[in-house]
Amino acid sequence: MAQMEEKCSCKSKVSGKSVQYNKLEPALRLELRTIVKALSLPGKGLLAADESPSSLGERFKLLDLENSETTRRDYRQMLFSTDKSILAQYISGILLHHETLYQKTSDNLEFVELLSQKCIIPGIKVDKGLVEIFGTEGEKTTQGLDDLQERCIQYKRDGCHFTKWRCVFKISDKLPSRLAIVTNSNVLARYATISQSARLVPIVEPEILNEGDFTLEKALDVHEEVLSTLFQVFKENNVYLEGMILKPAMVLPGTNSKLNFPPQTIAEYTITALQRTVPTAVQTILFLSGGQPDYTAFLNLNAINLYDSKKPWTLTFCFGRALQNEAMKVWNGDSTNILKAQEIFLARAKLCSQASEGQMEEDFSLNENQ
Ligand code: G3H
Repeated sequence: MAQMEEKCSCKSKVSGKSVQYNKLEPALRLELRTIVKALSLPGKGLLAADESPSSLGERFKLLDLENSETTRRDYRQMLFSTDKSILAQYISGILLHHETLYQKTSDNLEFVELLSQKCIIPGIKVDKGLVEIFGTEGEKTTQGLDDLQERCIQYKRDGCHFTKWRCVFKISDKLPSRLAIVTNSNVLARYATISQSARLVPIVEPEILNEGDFTLEKALDVHEEVLSTLFQVFKENNVYLEGMILKPAMVLPGTNSKLNFPPQTIAEYTITALQRTVPTAVQTILFLSGGQPDYTAFLNLNAINLYDSKKPWTLTFCFGRALQNEAMKVWNGDSTNILKAQEIFLARAKLCSQASEGQMEEDFSLNENQ
């Protein structure tokens, strides 16, 4: 990374000169593509460990764990200090929360340094959470654009190479509204261009939630409308497609619909949505797990990679819950459980890595409820 930075120093706002978004300088384009490539190496994906203190607190609550800065630090330290030589075989980058970026291990080592020693690229969630879009039926957009450029410049200086921003869409008979789709596409485009100008690859997350009672066809329609609008708006905003990563949900029926489909069908619908909407200039697509049972998320990713059709992108993972759920339970805030929890985390990362190449081995110790 240091070498990459040296080779690719750009003349963006970072060095005091403003960027023409439609004419990103060749060095900046090269730097962004180099980061995308380093994050998308075969058999690798990302760990999303960017939960806010309150979101992580909700998960701790289920285990009766205290939600303090120290507990959050100890939990992240358990994950990030997992076997140095092996973890980086499966995980190319880790998405952090602002708090974690500036935390140190109990041995006083900065987390960002710990990850760099493991050849894992640090990234940062830069959105500041959801707010309601007035005049809609409870739909949301995401805030944080006002001071984004300054924050991105600082995060780059502090060792990050990519960012993430999440917008959400609900599905119902009437939703998502056109207003929510256009508003969020514009927000994501502004975010992406600002992040790129600060030499950080944007991971663009238009998450279509799977909560609700809707069919797989309805989910496919919504994915097509959201993603096609997003890329139209990205074109208008001159987002550099080769220097970004898309982080969508898989196309799934609503969780209340009680409809169940085999991974091959989920793969067919997901790839169909992507083929119809995502330009091939985008190099990499990282799926979120979206609250699916862990093993189901792995099987679906595996089927997506096995699906026999045009797939001009690297299709891998940036999972939060599916990678962490079990490890967190086993850890349970007790340092004597660290090795066991790390073993579980590593085993999950290995399954995801195999799934990202369509080579997942069955794990009979896991079932569809895990
Ligand atoms: O924003 C969502 C996270 O980055 C991914 O989390 O895999 O638990 O859905 P998830």
